[in-house]
Amino acid sequence: LASTEVDISALQPGDSLTVKWRGKPVVVRNRTQKEIDDAKAASLSDLKDPVARNANLQLDAPATDANRAAAGKENWFVMVNVCTHLGCIPLGQSGSFNGWFCPCHGSVYDTAGRIRSGPAPENMAIPVYSFLSDTKIKIG
Ligand code: FES
Repeated sequence: LASTEVDISALQPGDSLTVKWRGKPVVVRNRTQKEIDDAKAASLSDLKDPVARNANLQLDAPATDANRAAAGKENWFVMVNVCTHLGCIPLGQSGSFNGWFCPCHGSVYDTAGRIRSGPAPENMAIPVYSFLSDTKIKIG
């Protein structure tokens, strides 16, 4: 399928779901305020990959939390949950930044899916998506 629709109405803060899109897992997360605050606290100079990797934005958009989260809905976070090292699937709410942790070779991602340590070269990708309503997202 080129695109997929996701019902997010049941996701409370701290809840996630994963859907398959183009053969890859895409995580949709309703982030907690702490996760948002932690992500915002990082300065761009702390980041290994300073580029947003957000398919909804220009290629050179900086990797601020605002450029990683949904536009105007900073709690909502949509990401291709594939490690940018060698393609393993990182575990959510894990690792020293309580974001994602890749068990294959130890890459650590923050609560905005940005690579913070380990061998992965890039932030995990943000796919094209849009809100069809407050409770429905279209990915792709
Ligand atoms: Fe994730 Fe190597 S595949 S760290």
